[in-house]
Amino acid sequence: MKQQLENIRLQALSSLDAATSPAELEELRVKWLGKKGELTAVLKMMGKLSAEERPVMGQMANSVRAEIEEKLESRKTQIGAAVLEAKLAAEAIDVTIPGEAVTLGHQHPMNMVLQEVKDIFVGLGYQVVDGPEVELADYNFTRLNIEEGHPSRDRSDTFYFTDDDSVLLRTQTSPMQIRFMENHKPPFCMLAPGRVFRKDEADATHSPMFHQIEGLVVDEHITMGDLKGALISMMRKIYGADSEMRFRPHHFPFTEPSCEMDMQCHKCHGTGEIDGQVCSTCHGEGWIELLGAGMVHPKVLESCGIDPEKYSGFAFGMGLERMAMGRMRINDLRLIFDNDVRFLNQF
Ligand code: DAH
Repeated sequence: MKQQLENIRLQALSSLDAATSPAELEELRVKWLGKKGELTAVLKMMGKLSAEERPVMGQMANSVRAEIEEKLESRKTQIGAAVLEAKLAAEAIDVTIPGEAVTLGHQHPMNMVLQEVKDIFVGLGYQVVDGPEVELADYNFTRLNIEEGHPSRDRSDTFYFTDDDSVLLRTQTSPMQIRFMENHKPPFCMLAPGRVFRKDEADATHSPMFHQIEGLVVDEHITMGDLKGALISMMRKIYGADSEMRFRPHHFPFTEPSCEMDMQCHKCHGTGEIDGQVCSTCHGEGWIELLGAGMVHPKVLESCGIDPEKYSGFAFGMGLERMAMGRMRINDLRLIFDNDVRFLNQF
């Protein structure tokens, strides 16, 4: 029996030493110390021993059990630590690896310029309004004093929805003048930015869809001086206090008199050439056209129920893309709509 106990002791201790996981340890605990385990089996035979042998064997059995239990505990601690260490190693986070930068987007360059223009006019007391892109020919043309047969009404220039040419995609933001005057009594200052549509092939300076910003001011005693003051102060805020402007006579059916406003070319400073070459920005003109404007035609005021004897006003309409191109030094209109992030990230 002594030999049996000694065998159990040796085998149990070495099997515990060889174990590598908590599950294995538990299996060994059952095998050696459990109710149906090896040690219990030996103890069950104690009854057969003589009275002198029994306490000696009992003592030995107890010390074997104690030794195995002790070993079990110490292996549990060791294996637990090893398991934890392996887990930590597997889940290790290397805090020295550089973080992944979250790329933050920003406003589209055209939106930036739009915001700038809006801020300026809101600062001057203008109300910003929005209107429909699907428009009635009545608002887009007729009530703006653009008569039947005018080239801009042509089917080759304008997108129509109906056979009778009464509904269309607006070709300009000017119909917002009519829509606003129908619902407001002077005095007022309004700004109406939005998309407009024309049957144009896309190239460096044309797109079938682009943006305009319409402005309208009506009050008593409004003059061309007010028009010039408002537009020059806006453009100088956008293009710099030293930028030079000029007004040229022009014709628009809905304003009288009408004009166009140009800015001196920022590239060639009005000379039209750079190092003996024709300036590519203004094509040798020395000036860049910015917008159309004029004093609201009395017929237009009248068609909206405003007395042209008492009130006068000025209106202007500018292309937002053109303005963004000048402001951001962009030389191809298509870049603005392609939305290639390599381009957009430059702003
Ligand atoms: N709607 C005109 C265009 O698209 C621009 C324009 C010119 C607007 C004169 C105006 C204006 O309000 O007074 O070419």
